[in-house]
Amino acid sequence: MAIERTYAMVKPDGVQRGLVGEIVRRIETKGYRIVGMKLMQIPRATAEKHYGEHAGKPFFDGLVTFITSGPVVAMVLEGENAILGWRGMMGATNPKDAAPGTIRGDFATTIDHNVAHGSDAPATAEREIGIFFAADDLLD
Ligand code: RTP
Ligand code: MG
Repeated sequence: MAIERTYAMVKPDGVQRGLVGEIVRRIETKGYRIVGMKLMQIPRATAEKHYGEHAGKPFFDGLVTFITSGPVVAMVLEGENAILGWRGMMGATNPKDAAPGTIRGDFATTIDHNVAHGSDAPATAEREIGIFFAADDLLD
């Protein structure tokens, strides 16, 4: 038994396309507990920090521009195996490889606009939660 917390986000394309309700529904029906949630527009410096591992890659500037282009829904999910579990619910990074039934498989067609984000490991989750939420913002 490992109860984990992970950082999850509906990206600007998902918010703009009206997919917040569907994505939150999937999270709730899966059984993860939402312990933090807010609608926000990410400042550029925050986005550069969040995606810092990709600094210098050819897609970095476009990625930061995209993630700051409109509001996102930032969440912290809690549950058994939540980190890899949420990654599984999102599907492969590139929607062309994402299985039907996953969020990216069902709702996205291109890698640049892939609707949702999820932390990829425990250390990443801790780091990303800390970027977007103060400890006081989260449920106990
Ligand atoms: P995310 O961080 O957004 O949840 O996505 P991920 O872990 O599945 O993928 P990651 O490797 O962290 O990449 C972050 C985002 O950058 C864009 N990307 N573009 N053109 C490319 O080769 C490329 N590679 C990555 C994607 O939008 C990806 O979600
Ligand atoms: Mg990533």
